[in-house]
Amino acid sequence: MIDFQSPEFHEDPYPELAELRTHGKPVWHDETGMFLAARHADANAVLRDKNLGRIFQPRTPEDQWFDFNWLHADSILDSEPPKHTRLKSLISKAFNPVTIRAMRPDIERLAGALLDRAADREEFDLIGDIAEPLPVKVIAHLLGFPESDEHLLRPWSQAIVKMYEVSPTDQHKADARAAAHDFADYVHGLMVERKKNPGTDLISVLAAVEEDGQSLNTHELIATCVLLLNAGHEASVNGFGNGAVAALSRPDALAPLREDPRGIGPTAVEEFLRFDSPLQLFERTATAETEIGGVRIAAGQKIAALLGSANRDEDVFDRSTEMDLTRQRNPHIGFGAGIHFCIGAPLARVEMNVLLPAVFERFPRMELTREPHRRPGFVLRGYESVHVSH
Ligand code: HEM
Repeated sequence: MIDFQSPEFHEDPYPELAELRTHGKPVWHDETGMFLAARHADANAVLRDKNLGRIFQPRTPEDQWFDFNWLHADSILDSEPPKHTRLKSLISKAFNPVTIRAMRPDIERLAGALLDRAADREEFDLIGDIAEPLPVKVIAHLLGFPESDEHLLRPWSQAIVKMYEVSPTDQHKADARAAAHDFADYVHGLMVERKKNPGTDLISVLAAVEEDGQSLNTHELIATCVLLLNAGHEASVNGFGNGAVAALSRPDALAPLREDPRGIGPTAVEEFLRFDSPLQLFERTATAETEIGGVRIAAGQKIAALLGSANRDEDVFDRSTEMDLTRQRNPHIGFGAGIHFCIGAPLARVEMNVLLPAVFERFPRMELTREPHRRPGFVLRGYESVHVSH
């Protein structure tokens, strides 16, 4: 059975995930105490099943985990209806496809400036110089997070998201507790200031948002901002990095994008997210007995949707193990499904649709210069650095 801690599995999980799919139904995983849904149909069903919820289990001792716990319990991602419905409706008033479309010129300008800087050097890091700063700057700008403090975001976020791995270490736990406290404290300060002097940024707008007499309370407001700041860059960095490494390692697959970056860009973005998905596993807990792929899930039992595996399912995708940047039919579930479907998908798609063609237009001969360095872990799949020449 899969060893989620194994460095070999982290390096290339896909052969073992393919084996898991041959069972044809969710499989019980003893070490983690949950079912694993590896097929597309099963993972998709897990995300859409009304009897399977994101049930946040507060960490203990609760006094030590106080900030970490409410940052999750009061966020949209870790809520279920009716609270999820209320938070989603309030957040969508401020954060929606219209606000996002309006950001495209800013995103193009930011991407252009990053590419200019990279062009001055013979070799650069696709992650540290391009894929990471773009979404960090975009989400920071959107929320009105001061530019001078942007460097704080990735370390806070990295420390918190390490808790989403299957078995975090004691050091990871201590780092996550400290980061949750500092991040919440900082955003609280910004919120108090914006309530006094509102601007056009998302923090000000969220602080003012109201519907049918309902508004976000202080914890919900801070939790929403922290979630948007974290989720708003973490997967975007890795989605771009994973796809870029896969493409640069496969010259034949990359050829159409090199030839026509703008024409191929939109299908290439979706194939990047399918082929080596940045988020691999999401857990659900049964609130009542249910059934997935013919397997009975009793109330209280856990089941995980394996998104990266679902996106390689040979029953859904032709030549599922091949990267095809011109792929037309691509029903990947990299952004999830059901009520928790990614609220940031329109923003992530604009960012990637701006960045991907721009990078290959500017650097048509771009090549890897050394073996890219992966981050350890499975749930959040990405690279530390990806050095390229142009
Ligand atoms: C390539 C980039 C991204 C990927 C692959 C991605 C993927 C996902 C996935 C799979 C989920 C569902 C989790 C679940 O079902 O348990 C999700 C939820 C979410 N994402 Fe993203 N995401 C990306 C970018 C973003 C961005 C840019 C933002 C915000 C600016 C964002 C904000 C959120 C939020 C707030 C949720 C929770 C929605 C809810 O619970 O209703 N994401 N994302």
